[in-house]
Amino acid sequence: MGPPTIKKLAMIGCGSMGGGMALLFAENGLEVSLQDPSKEAMDALKKSAEKQGLGEKTEEYTDYQSLCASLDSPKLIVFSLPHGDVGDTVLGGLLPYLEKDDIILDCGNERWTNTERRQSKCVTRGIEYIGCGVSGGYQAARAGPSMCPGGSDEGLDTVLPLLKKVAAKDKEGKSCVGKVGTGGCGHYVKMVHNGIEHGMMSAISEAWKILVTGAGLPLEEVGDIFENWDQSGHLSGTFLVSIGASISRTIDPSTGERVVLTVEDKVVQDITGEEGTGIWSNVEAIEHHIPAPTMATAHFLRLASADRQQRVDAQKAFGGEISQQKIDFKSSEDKSEFVESLRVAVFAACLASYIQGINVIERADKENGWNVDFAAVHQIWKAGCIIQSDYISELLSPIFTLSLEEVSSTSTSKAHTRNLLLQPHIMSLLREAYPHLRRIVAKATEKDWCVPALSATLEYIKYQTGTDLPTGFYEAELDFFGKHMFDRKGAEGSNELRTGAEHFEWKPAMGS
Ligand code: 6PG
Repeated sequence: MGPPTIKKLAMIGCGSMGGGMALLFAENGLEVSLQDPSKEAMDALKKSAEKQGLGEKTEEYTDYQSLCASLDSPKLIVFSLPHGDVGDTVLGGLLPYLEKDDIILDCGNERWTNTERRQSKCVTRGIEYIGCGVSGGYQAARAGPSMCPGGSDEGLDTVLPLLKKVAAKDKEGKSCVGKVGTGGCGHYVKMVHNGIEHGMMSAISEAWKILVTGAGLPLEEVGDIFENWDQSGHLSGTFLVSIGASISRTIDPSTGERVVLTVEDKVVQDITGEEGTGIWSNVEAIEHHIPAPTMATAHFLRLASADRQQRVDAQKAFGGEISQQKIDFKSSEDKSEFVESLRVAVFAACLASYIQGINVIERADKENGWNVDFAAVHQIWKAGCIIQSDYISELLSPIFTLSLEEVSSTSTSKAHTRNLLLQPHIMSLLREAYPHLRRIVAKATEKDWCVPALSATLEYIKYQTGTDLPTGFYEAELDFFGKHMFDRKGAEGSNELRTGAEHFEWKPAMGS
């Protein structure tokens, strides 16, 4: 007997994401029971369903008992809730009405540890709890998002046919969803997706600022540059670049102003606590000993940006603004070359963000034993999601879709890992990009433009491929004051991940 067919579901959380998905499910023939603590939000969604001819497919419920009674067996309940306590409270309220084989599909940006805690609570009652990252924003939620589910095989087998129907489709018409693995790995992979998103978005924004304010190019021209970048080459099919073209061009018809020029330079959601994925993915990177500077510095930029008043006050204390100077071009060739270098530099930062994120996922997967299916992740990131990038997707294809044994045959260490730092076809691109990135960072530094993700990427490439780092002296200092031990250059085993073999008595302690 195959998995049961789902014809009805409940959507708990009718905000922009939940609302969009509720309509998407209804449009795909499902009967959708709605619930939200805000009656207003439910009414608005019901109204919009009616407008779209989906009124009969949606019904509002105000208590868990009648909501659960409206569903078939097994019941499918979709969460689109803020992360944290809310999910626990809702799950607690639902549990008395749930039975064996019922499924919770948590489509919020939940922290993976919360997902796993709820999974262990549910498993004792035979209830499936699937953590499913959903990407693409509210427009995609309505039209077909990229979906990243993780949990038990049985639960995933039941929901997958439905998710395949509604998820975003790639150019070949294949759904951007798949069984990612067990436990909380669906939410984990989505969390890292957002970390990668941070790095990419920062690099793209830094480039935008250099073009618009640094080089003083008209926004229409910047829109054209972004469109060109999106159309071919290293950044082709990169969603964040493509929306950059639209953002540059958009004019508010009521004021005639370019909307983007009216947007204050602050990102507040990390501080207000609305979002968490960017914070968690960076914490995970550090906890798993993965250098992820492009992702991390993007996050620090956001944090600094959020507290605008502090920046204003710090600027006063500093004695005024660092005056950024115009970037002038000697000729049109000079300008084209600069714009070309900027494109390649942005690509390097985007690729570095992917490398860092994938390293975090792989390390966590090994530690948690989720059995992440990287071919599924590849498919999930192909379309519909925020980090989608056709060119990078092509690059990743052999690394994500082949077995570890096959991947190791092309790696320079022959190790069984998907670590992109060991793959010549990836690293040769970073090598080609390096002089462009250096040129941009040098020019930006000379003229005082703010390029944290681009410069962090430049350093990342330097230190990840360097074998004579300043850390020789660092290690000596550690040994000097703390007897931390070190390895002698070229000594046997000195490339191993272990405590150093020697201590030198740089300055004997008093009395010794
Ligand atoms: C997506 C997005 C989304 C995210 C916000 C931005 O994949 O659709 O990543 O899930 O919540 O759009 O989140 P941050 O504020 O954490 O960058």
